[in-house]
Amino acid sequence: MTRKRVLSGIQPTADSFHLGNYLGAVQQWVALQEDHDVFFFIADLHALTIETDPALLRKRSLVSAAQLIASGVDPEKSTVFLQSHVAAHNQLGWIMECMAGFGEASRMTQFKDKSQKSGTDRTAVGLFTYPMLQAADILLYQADRVPVGEDQRQHIELTRDLAGRFNSRYGKTFQVPEPHILKSGAKINDLQDPTAKMSKSAESMQGVIEILDSPESNAKKIKSSMTDAGREVRFDQAEKPGVSNLMTIHSALSGSTIAEIEKAFEGKGYGDFKGAVAEIVVEYLRPIRAKALELLEDEAFLIQTLRNGADKARVVAEKTLSDTYKNLGLVER
Ligand code: TRP
Repeated sequence: MTRKRVLSGIQPTADSFHLGNYLGAVQQWVALQEDHDVFFFIADLHALTIETDPALLRKRSLVSAAQLIASGVDPEKSTVFLQSHVAAHNQLGWIMECMAGFGEASRMTQFKDKSQKSGTDRTAVGLFTYPMLQAADILLYQADRVPVGEDQRQHIELTRDLAGRFNSRYGKTFQVPEPHILKSGAKINDLQDPTAKMSKSAESMQGVIEILDSPESNAKKIKSSMTDAGREVRFDQAEKPGVSNLMTIHSALSGSTIAEIEKAFEGKGYGDFKGAVAEIVVEYLRPIRAKALELLEDEAFLIQTLRNGADKARVVAEKTLSDTYKNLGLVER
């Protein structure tokens, strides 16, 4: 039986992944590569929809790729590449822009939110066409499943609509993908504001565990995380959001159940518990961070790995693009 094809992308918009990204997405991608035919890419073209600093974009693209590989996405098992290395993304992107209705694209909530914040004069046209490029990313590879967070659901629905519309007008060309919404069993919250999701856009990074941050700094953030009322280590999200969040982190990384953790810390206080969580997080991230830093040290090798990935990706993408052109009536080259 042929393996189902899975595709996902991540924008290179941060200096480091945080623990929420890692447990919410990256860890699940790593698991998928064992029994799926997997394509993962860094959406560097999507990152251009907001004004970027060239040195920062370059650095973040490489850092994102290094972290994916360091976290266990194996370039031998998965196809890992940069979006800008495969020109077919832009080429099919244009076709998708011609398939989408203006009103349909105008209803994308992510566009509405972001453009409302910056005002129409400062909103790039690329932010508007962003979902059509994303549709092209997915359809080029005939992906069966697209693992993404809930915030991307509407873009996947649009992709399905565009694929279906194209297929019915011009003949079956694209696999219609299923969304595969990652319900992070572990929802990781901010350490200082444990009722809010851990996010790179938090006001302060004090509550955000970054994979590439030093062990000392991460241990300190956990030890100085928000302290709840009471003293018992007990899972209770309403009364004890801070402890509950730390228990979720402990459980996700150690594999212990919540009940086992409660038992282990019976009669002990928050201080002991925070110390134990800090140790688990630091030891868990240590090899990932070390591997990522090692990969970043040899930039030429990292870039070559990404070029090899793009070479593999291009074979699949070019085939879809040429079928698309043909079905549309564009004269063969
Ligand atoms: N828009 C996605 C995000 O911000 C990133 C992305 C770009 C993507 N292209 C994709 C995700 C294709 C899945 C499939 O998270």
